[in-house]
This record gives sequence, C-alpha cells and structure tokens, in this order.
Amino acid sequence: DWTAEHIIDELISDVQKQVGEGRVLLAISGGVDSSTLGLLLARAVGDRLTAVFIDHGLLRLGEREQVEAALIPLGVHLVTVDARAEFMGALEGVSDPEQKRKIIGREFIRAFEREAALQAQEHGGFDFLAQGTLYPDVIESAGGLQSDKSGAANIKSHHNVGGLPEDLNFKLVEPFRTLFKDEVREIAKLLGLPEHIRMRHPFPGPGLAIRCLGAISEEKLDILRRVDDIFISGLREFGLYDGCSQALAILTPIQSVGVMGDERTYSYTAALRAVTTDDYMTAEWARLPWDFLATMSNRIVNQVHEINRVVYDITGKPPATIEWE
Ligand code: XMP
Repeated sequence: DWTAEHIIDELISDVQKQVGEGRVLLAISGGVDSSTLGLLLARAVGDRLTAVFIDHGLLRLGEREQVEAALIPLGVHLVTVDARAEFMGALEGVSDPEQKRKIIGREFIRAFEREAALQAQEHGGFDFLAQGTLYPDVIESAGGLQSDKSGAANIKSHHNVGGLPEDLNFKLVEPFRTLFKDEVREIAKLLGLPEHIRMRHPFPGPGLAIRCLGAISEEKLDILRRVDDIFISGLREFGLYDGCSQALAILTPIQSVGVMGDERTYSYTAALRAVTTDDYMTAEWARLPWDFLATMSNRIVNQVHEINRVVYDITGKPPATIEWE
C-alpha cells in the first residue's frame, strides 16, 4: 500500500545502501523532479550530496532565488553557477531554433562538468550521478521513443538536464525510476518543497531562449521575463494556474504601429499561450476568460513599454507545438 511517508523511508534507505560512503552529484533544474530529488538525497546522504544549479540566464524572473530559498534551508548543499555570460556569448546571433537548443545543451554540459571538477577538487571526487528519471521516462526510452521530462516525443531535439555527460564514469542513482509525477509531488510535499515549485508547470531546459523568437539578446530576454511574470502571476492571482497544464509568454520579432498618449509607437508583439493536456503530445488551447485576458493585456502594455500589442494563441497541438520554437 502506497503512502508517501512509507515510500520516502524506503527510498532513503535504498539510496543509502546503494551509495554507502560515496559522494553524489546532482544537476538541479529548478523543476519539481530534480528539486525533490535534492531534498531526498540531502536526507539520505547529507553533505555528501552536491547539487549544481546552472543559471544560464534563460530563467524566469526570480527563479534562481526561489530555488535557492527552497533548497538551501532544507539542508541541500546547493552550488549555483553563474554561466550567463557564456550562454549569451555562445548564442549570439543564432536564430535557428534547433541550433539554439544544441548550443544550450552543449554549454550546459560544459558548465556542469567544469563545476563538477571544481567541486571534486575542493571536496573530493564524485562516485554517483543522481537523476530524477520517472517511470514514464523509463517506459518510453525502453520503447525506443525519445522523450523529455514531460513525455513529449522528440519532434524537436529536446534537451533537458537529464542529458548529462556520459564520459564521466559515474554510477547512476535514480530513486524515482518507479514513480509517477503525482507521486513525486506527494513526496515533495512531505519533504517541504514549497507549493510554487511543487505544482509548477513544466519549463523547458532551454528556458526562455525558445520563447524569445529568433536571435536572443539580454534586452529581449528582459522584456520577455517581465511579460511572463505578469501572465504567470496573473494566472495564480485569478486561480487559473492549476487549471492549465502549461502557460507561457512568447516575445515575437514582430514590430507594429501603435499609439500611446499622443505618440505613435513602433514596438514588439507579445503572445500568450496556455494549454490543457494529459501527455503534452497533443494539447488544446485553454479557454481562459476574456476578462482575464483583457486584464493581462492591459497590465502588459502598461508595465512593459517595449510591448504595444498582445495576442493570445488559439491553436491546438497538432498542428502547432506548445512552444513556438
Ligand atoms: P512542444 O513544443 O514540442 O513541447 O509541444 C512539448 C513539451 O515539451 C517541452 N519542451 C522541452 N522540454 N527541452 C525540454 O526540457 C526542450 O528542448 C523542450 N522543447 C519543448 C515543452 O515545454 C512542453 O512541455
């Protein structure tokens, strides 16, 4: 019989048996799976866990601080790596979506390996690499279907923090291999992971880079970050967040004419997208209330001066994907 308390004890003792006195390395993405795993491993092996969180500069507003505030007080030895400059440099002038994903994947591994080496020098080498692999991931990879954490098939070359260095000769620790997402969320609750991370929509590994269409820049990411924050905070405020499977803002490269006071503007168009889905392979656009959308549109154009037009994406998947790149 499945109770989360019981499962936690069992997972902890399994990890302790497997790891012994070894040292464990974990990549934290800020999502529910890796965050929960961080908490579980901290309980199991204490500071023989090092959790590495790469800030690639493609995170949402306040995300880094939220992850740090959630994990560090609960005893996770968390190291945040500021790799923003490297990612920006590597992505400069790159507009092709697949190219962007590849570069981000490559830079991620580089930054992670470099930090792992530094940590190993300081505290001693690592024996194990922990991953938040879930049961559906196991099934799908056994079936030969490449998938990401949200179960989406590999139509886009998905990169997430699961795709880590294979040449490092780590043994894998994957305590969640038999679990479903809902079970991980229950475990997360008992381990004290704050609700905003526990119940979070999936967020892609390449982050805001694939929501900032075309070549990215600091300026564009900053605009997108503010739009996204207004939309996501608004969904929470109006009690609509949990009813959507995923919600996102997109910064398009379209500039159009508008009017603000007595002045003509020529500014960017932001798109909002929200979907409902069970498996992320197909999705419906969420029928958000018009009044809510009106409020979001007003807030965005009032608070983000670089935006003078807001549109809502009313396309299902297929034919559209959830992300715009
Ligand atoms: P699409 O856009 O293919 O997305 O309908 C389906 C789900 O997958 C997520 N997604 C990604 N996740 N790396 C990830 O970790 C990626 O490159 C990536 N691309 C899409 C997307 O957010 C949605 O949940």
